[in-house]
Amino acid sequence: MRLRTVALFVSLAILTFVTPRLLPAEPSVSTPSLNMSPDLQQLFQAEMRELLLGTQRIAGALPVANWDGIADSAMAMRNSYVLDQKLTTAQRHDLEQLPEQFKAFDEAFHHRAEKLAHAAKAKDAEAVSFHFSRLLDSCVACHATYAKTRFPNFRSEGGTEHRH
Ligand code: HEC
Repeated sequence: MRLRTVALFVSLAILTFVTPRLLPAEPSVSTPSLNMSPDLQQLFQAEMRELLLGTQRIAGALPVANWDGIADSAMAMRNSYVLDQKLTTAQRHDLEQLPEQFKAFDEAFHHRAEKLAHAAKAKDAEAVSFHFSRLLDSCVACHATYAKTRFPNFRSEGGTEHRH
């Protein structure tokens, strides 16, 4: 009797504490949490949709050598990002607590958008093409690490280790 009780407790303990750690990672477990407040997350998502529009515009402008269009879109992406916007104090606090790696991805993205704008101003098709491709890489790098819940197809990708 006693042994069985002990066994039951042990099994329960294993179920409660050990099993969740040993199981393959749940989708959300493998994604570092950004802990954004709902209103900041909404702002952020709206900004992301703008970024997508920007990349679509640039993809359409490059084959027709619309350098001004590319420079404008790239600078808009460079400037109008949520991390640079006017935010409430609470939202700003929210942003400050974001992981350093996330901020590094953000910075790399900005840096690339600026280089792309410069290449467009120089009417350098090859450089535009190069920086545009790297700009997309910078979306992917951040998404593969921080947006796996939103974009589950990144889960099997091995994150940012995928390099060319
Ligand atoms: C620094 C990190 C980071 C970078 C750089 C980044 N994203 Fe995102 N993006 C995210 C995260 C995190 C989400 C998921 C947000 C959520 O759902 O809470 C997201 C979501 C999105 C969404 C979905 C928005 C929605 O409506 O829910 C789109 C579209 C998007 N990103 C496009 C882009 C494009 C295009 C680029 C590059 C030009 C880019 N992102 C660069 C982090 C990033």
